[in-house]
Amino acid sequence: MSTIAITGSASGMGAATRTRLEKAGHSVIGIDIRDADIIADLGTVPGRRAAIDAVRKRTANRLDGLVVCAGVGPQVEPWSTIVSINYFGAQVLLEGLRDALAAGTQPAAVAVASNSASLPGVDTPIVEACLAGDEEEARRLALTFSGHHAYAGSKLALTRWVRRNAPGPAWAGAGIRLNAVAPGVVMTPLLQGGLDHPVFGDAIRNFKVPLGNYGDPDQIAAMIAFLLGPDGSFCCGSMIFVDGGTDAMLRPDNF
Ligand code: NAI
Repeated sequence: MSTIAITGSASGMGAATRTRLEKAGHSVIGIDIRDADIIADLGTVPGRRAAIDAVRKRTANRLDGLVVCAGVGPQVEPWSTIVSINYFGAQVLLEGLRDALAAGTQPAAVAVASNSASLPGVDTPIVEACLAGDEEEARRLALTFSGHHAYAGSKLALTRWVRRNAPGPAWAGAGIRLNAVAPGVVMTPLLQGGLDHPVFGDAIRNFKVPLGNYGDPDQIAAMIAFLLGPDGSFCCGSMIFVDGGTDAMLRPDNF
């Protein structure tokens, strides 16, 4: 049995991952702004600090798995909150709990990114500011672009952070496998919020899914569980699209 912390555990893919891992006999520590074992606002510096401290305390600094899944959609305003939650709320937890993972058994971490990260036009200075660790600048830039750029940019930055760090001494070198999952459109409250939005609703409805329908949160949870567990033991720095074929349709020659 492993001990696995999941952010965004109260809803959608985080909740589906919790259910799946608990059914498999693992012990899950849920972190969320509501309905969780550890209540914390990951959009803030003190919230992230409190979440990291609480996980450390509960696990005596030994964690076997970490899933950073908490996030908000592109429709959430102000747009600055999107980068704070989706990038810094994920990256700071990964970094802050890395030591606890290094002390775990066959440890692994999974970041939930998005297939929006590979859309054209989303590689803006927001991405650079995130990767430079400059939250103030990333928040300022997010306000000058759009919710879409803040959202997709935060996910692109998170993916790059995973790819840059996973093979290095702090992660692979310490025996911790770090990977990312890029979901496509998945039916959750976050997606429903977008579908109900006057601008984003049509954009989402026009987003083609070759397999024909929206994903179910458990289809993403299955990939997260695979990457955390022994079946994913040779995966390191992978960015796995679980999107019904959308990315392959849009960028067949890019991989
Ligand atoms: P959801 O809305 O069902 O779940 C998100 C969870 O994050 C909620 O439990 C919420 O309370 C928590 N959360 C939000 N802000 C927080 C904060 N400041 N501090 C702590 N927790 C906070 O959404 P869903 O769809 O399950 O999203 C999970 C992840 O998947 C997100 O990172 C999202 O960006 C990503 N994603 C979702 C897609 C979709 O179509 N649903 C597509 C691609 C990526």
